[in-house]
Amino acid sequence: MSPLEKLYQHLEKVYHFQSIVALLSWDQETYMPLKAYEQRSQQMGLMASLVHQNKTSELKKILQDINLQELKDKDFLIVKRVKQDFEKWSKIPEKFAVKLSELTSQAQYHWDKAKKNNDFPSFAPYLQDLVKLKIEEANYLGYEDCPYDALLDDYEKGLKSKDFEKIIQPVVKEFYQKNTPTTTIQNPFHKNISAQEQLQFANQLIKDLGFDFTRGRQDLSSHPFSNAISIHDVRITTRIIESDLSYMLYSTIHETGHALYELGLNTELLGTPYSETCSLTIHESQSRFWENNIGRSRAFCKFLAKKLQEYLPQYYQEVNPEDLFAVLNEVKPSFIRTESDEVTYHLHIALRFELEKALINQEIKVEDLPALWNEKMKNYLGITPPNDSLGVLQDVHWSAGLLGYFPTYSLGSFYAAQIYQHLKSIFPHFDDKIEKGDFEFIHQWLKENIFSKGRLYNSQEILQQSTGNKLKNHIFRDYILTKIQFV
Ligand code: CO
Repeated sequence: MSPLEKLYQHLEKVYHFQSIVALLSWDQETYMPLKAYEQRSQQMGLMASLVHQNKTSELKKILQDINLQELKDKDFLIVKRVKQDFEKWSKIPEKFAVKLSELTSQAQYHWDKAKKNNDFPSFAPYLQDLVKLKIEEANYLGYEDCPYDALLDDYEKGLKSKDFEKIIQPVVKEFYQKNTPTTTIQNPFHKNISAQEQLQFANQLIKDLGFDFTRGRQDLSSHPFSNAISIHDVRITTRIIESDLSYMLYSTIHETGHALYELGLNTELLGTPYSETCSLTIHESQSRFWENNIGRSRAFCKFLAKKLQEYLPQYYQEVNPEDLFAVLNEVKPSFIRTESDEVTYHLHIALRFELEKALINQEIKVEDLPALWNEKMKNYLGITPPNDSLGVLQDVHWSAGLLGYFPTYSLGSFYAAQIYQHLKSIFPHFDDKIEKGDFEFIHQWLKENIFSKGRLYNSQEILQQSTGNKLKNHIFRDYILTKIQFV
């Protein structure tokens, strides 16, 4: 076997280990009995140690025999990336990787409990320990300007706080406390539809969007997520409130966007950057694209109106697509990020970005978070959460150790707007197709231009190759201003 074949075989083995970790984590978030969490955290720690060894010392032996300069095309790009990954992974001690994995598994349990009981102080010690570990991680990885930048790099390679500030601040400034006129429309999503009926409807709808149930499934969890266990096993979750169908619907569409990306990846050379997603920014560009650019468009509302009548006739004898469009594009501050409109959403991201940056750069303390959160909510959105469950405790990210993730939601949205604009310019009758439920041409284009590139290029390169341009900030702004009328 050639050294290159050895490498690919090894990476496939690591891929299977990671699939097992993903399955353990999916189980923890969905069906695992409550009291199993301590042993689950030990199992996760054990797997983290196995994965770490295989990504560092074991990989080192194999990489030693490969001369990058002798490789061509795809192999060259793959090995170049793997070498970069190796450099990064090697900076993290195995003991640390295990500790972090065990702690995040436990912290998620305590966060979930704290959120249900509106009890931030019970979660605070775990978050404190996590922040300490993430600072340690930043120190292992190294940084130029500030420790937080080392963490950002995990989700968007090379992104620095100051770059993100330049992108997000104009958006915050422009859309700060902007609202749409109050509507008198009776919200068509406000009905009483049982959880079972909602889930059934969601499953039918995402099938229409292209979700393949022979390669995935949808379940319930306290925070919606998507988890790619393997190339033919992508699982998403949603959550339901019976009085508002849109609460479930738009998070389901969001997670479906993630799933379609994972399900559309190359199926050869598993475990190598050839068959992996590019970055979290590109990932969020896919989820936000389906959730917002497609999902909240006039054309999609026409499609959705038909589907509501078809799948839920007992609740929707008649529904006006214009009413759906109006309520889905209402700009109005909300306590909850995942329920926010396309405009105020970015104020939520700015808030989280500023807080986690200050935490990691040791400018603020965990115990100050609830008060600081509420203060920023008041400043940016003009509202104060009545409790921490609707405030600082709402998102799963910090308990999962995902500090540095939030900026990818805004970046992803800006990427999505650019991809959407490009697609509309190259496909005639774009809206007619959406209205008819024809999404296949979009899948084909995304597959060819984004999914098949794997992780061989960075986010900016993929955007440039697919749309012909690097990120242009005015595109998101123009898109919003064309679609939404403000008071
Ligand atoms: Co997402």
